[in-house]
Amino acid sequence: MFGKRPSGNDTAPRERAKPVVPPPPPAMKQAGKGAEAPPPPVVVDSRSDQYYEIKTTIFNALIDTIDLAQLAQLDAASAREEIRDIVNEIISIKNVVMSIAEQEQLLQDICNDVLGYGPLEPLLARDDIADIMVNGAERVFIEVAGKVQLTNIRFRDNAQLMNICQRIVSQIGRRVDESSPICDARLPDGSRVNVIAPPLSIDGPTLTIRKFKKDKLKMSDLQRFGSISPEGATVLGIIGNVRCNVLISGGTGSGKTTLLNCMTGFIDLDERVVTCEDAAELQLQQPHVVRLETRPPNLEGTGEITMRDLVKNCLRMRPERIIVGEVRGPEAFDLLQAMNTGHDGSMGTLHANSPREALQRIESMITMGGYSLPSKTIREMVVGSIDVIVQAARLRDGSRRITHITEVIGLEGDVIITQDLFVYEITGEDETGRVKGRHMSTGISRPAFWERARYYNREAELLDALEAAAAT
Ligand SMILES: Nc1ncnc2c1ncn2[C@@H]1O[C@H](COP(=O)(O)OP(=O)(O)OP(=O)(O)O)[C@@H](O)[C@H]1O
Ligand SMILES: [Mg+2]
Repeated sequence: MFGKRPSGNDTAPRERAKPVVPPPPPAMKQAGKGAEAPPPPVVVDSRSDQYYEIKTTIFNALIDTIDLAQLAQLDAASAREEIRDIVNEIISIKNVVMSIAEQEQLLQDICNDVLGYGPLEPLLARDDIADIMVNGAERVFIEVAGKVQLTNIRFRDNAQLMNICQRIVSQIGRRVDESSPICDARLPDGSRVNVIAPPLSIDGPTLTIRKFKKDKLKMSDLQRFGSISPEGATVLGIIGNVRCNVLISGGTGSGKTTLLNCMTGFIDLDERVVTCEDAAELQLQQPHVVRLETRPPNLEGTGEITMRDLVKNCLRMRPERIIVGEVRGPEAFDLLQAMNTGHDGSMGTLHANSPREALQRIESMITMGGYSLPSKTIREMVVGSIDVIVQAARLRDGSRRITHITEVIGLEGDVIITQDLFVYEITGEDETGRVKGRHMSTGISRPAFWERARYYNREAELLDALEAAAAT
């Protein structure tokens, strides 16, 4: 019943979208602030320089003594035991004066350096950090509560940093060095890692980690943070449940994956869902989920499995819904086709700064994928498949907001017509620099997916939410 829908002029109502709030471009970052002195690094690591001197001496002595190849054969607990014995011995030989607590700390740090992720360990242990960004040995940034801060964490030198990068990527059977200086990987806890090494990164190895949140944010959390209004959250829930095809659009780190994960929470438990991702980040709660992951080429440059391969394969797996972590290439075509041919309720994210730009991006991904289709045909396909675009944004104060819930309703001539249901309007800034604003309904009480909501018996709830939003 809700397979391919007409893309012509008979889809009512039609209104040209007028984005009430254009998403804030980076240029909105307050002009003139660049001249101020940078804030001091946040103290994540309170150990003194003297401590580090002692640690380096002991570490070097340990490396001279220990057979690293043999150590690698041991399990983590035995390796720690071995290191503990040798370090204690070195401390007594070198006559280093330290309290028991300091010795424990030193041992912990040295074990982290030899067996773990060195100076990154304290950052990895924290669940409040969203991203860790290492720009060479000297500069480590973190993102906490939407704000990027420089920390006082340092690596001994670029060689130590490179070693740790190597250790991370070797766990998934990859290598990073001068000859293959770009590498994506994953930590055992699921965190997404990217390494780019010299000579491509000029000032030393650059490591970026998107920390995996054990407790993924839910729609109720987004509502609590003010990322979405209660009515908006209800409407998103209905959109997710009644099998609208959804694109989630947003800039880097704007919360697209988080939102996609929330939206999948409304999928009925009996639906068969197939997810395709570059690095598995989604955590679907349904019992009938198949998770697929792309594979980069191996060292010989073969064996790559692209997102397009996965999406095409999905179609042979009898999915009811297909969820694509990030659409960034020719798989856009396959996803749209899937959306159009009985897999309603499919979803994906993409990088774009507004719903309109998301539509343009989809079109250009298809064109660049080598399909020589006239642009009108591509637009007809887009209109026939995508129902809703949800726009996420990270505002200048670091907060994340859902700025648009927009429907794709038809084609007028060559132009795709969209209709905003909700928009976020920025009203100003408070004295602490936090952006003030509110989610506003655009007053539409009969969205284009109304019939679909009715089919799933959710129309009364939809109407209530839209009317409540219009009344505020
Ligand atoms: N509404 C929100 N409020 C507060 N924090 C959020 C919100 N949405 C996402 N986050 C946090 O922001 C970080 C980035 O989120 P997410 O991974 O969803 O972004 P993304 O847009 O998918 O990023 P990328 O472009 O790198 O894939 C995560 O740590 C996540 O927990
Ligand atoms: Mg993402």
